[in-house]
Amino acid sequence: MTADLPYAELHLHVEGTLEPELVMALARRNGVALPYRDTDELRRAYAFGDLQSFLDLYYATMSVLREPQDFADMTRAYLERAARAGVRHAEIMFDPQAHVSRGVPLETVVDGIWSVLATSERDHGVTTLLVAAFLRDRDEDEALDVLDRLLAAGAPIVGIGLDSAEVGHPPSKFARLFERARSAGLRRIAHAGEEGPPEYVAEALDVLGAERIDHGIRCLEDDALVARLVAEQTPLTVCPLSNVALRAVPSLEEHPVLVMLERGLNVSVHSDDPAYFGGYLDDTLHALEGALGLTSEQRVALAENSVRSSFLPPERRDALLAEIRAASR
Ligand code: ADE
Ligand code: ZN
Repeated sequence: MTADLPYAELHLHVEGTLEPELVMALARRNGVALPYRDTDELRRAYAFGDLQSFLDLYYATMSVLREPQDFADMTRAYLERAARAGVRHAEIMFDPQAHVSRGVPLETVVDGIWSVLATSERDHGVTTLLVAAFLRDRDEDEALDVLDRLLAAGAPIVGIGLDSAEVGHPPSKFARLFERARSAGLRRIAHAGEEGPPEYVAEALDVLGAERIDHGIRCLEDDALVARLVAEQTPLTVCPLSNVALRAVPSLEEHPVLVMLERGLNVSVHSDDPAYFGGYLDDTLHALEGALGLTSEQRVALAENSVRSSFLPPERRDALLAEIRAASR
């Protein structure tokens, strides 16, 4: 009954949608040598002990992305798959520093991704917004330089995010970056409370002015923080398959997402890096039905929260909410 509810994908790294088949095809096309003979061997490397072990592979496989066409092919493949999963709007992160640091021009990255996003509604029935995410395990000056270059080039970004290795890289390290983004009229998002402590969630809100928190699951360790997040209805974009794959949570059966929903937190579920963690939005929702007995009411609440927490203009947001209400009646 609720399988075709509209949904907004809000936590998605486009480089994390690079499926093994495309990695191998791009490696061949660009003459990039990889330490894997075939897709099976590459897939066997997808056994992660923590966030860092995933990031090591994630940054390594990105080496196949060289030309605008490569970024376009990756983005198009994601949108085709997302549309089949029921995604009607997607706010897509990319990691500019992961590419410029290995010699790929910023324009190659932005132009390649944007060449597909610009017509995503017409071609795939999915509206899209682009978010530049900054790597918290690199220094702030580099991030400021990349943001300035994006702004100077008039890059079509709606906002910035903060990602990569969390522990030891608190949000406060990026206070100037987020202030510059704010003054440029950009929206602000930060990963916090994935592996890092609840204090990082509070810091992302208080120091960075983050409007949305990616993950945030460790907020549950601090009741006062939960009360604040409930009162402020701060959007938390939770990624259950990612959390299990990176061992932030021992199993899907033990995942707290429905506890979070029942406590009144503004949570929605998302796919993070679906090529690496076992699935897209539809796979995630099916897995939650199986492991946690996700009910159709909870399914509707997740869809509504996703749309409400998006940066969509009010008309499109309200139209999608009305569609959800009509479909769930
Ligand atoms: N970059 C891509 N996926 C990420 C995740 N789950 N956490 C932090 N940085 C990331
Ligand atoms: Zn993420």
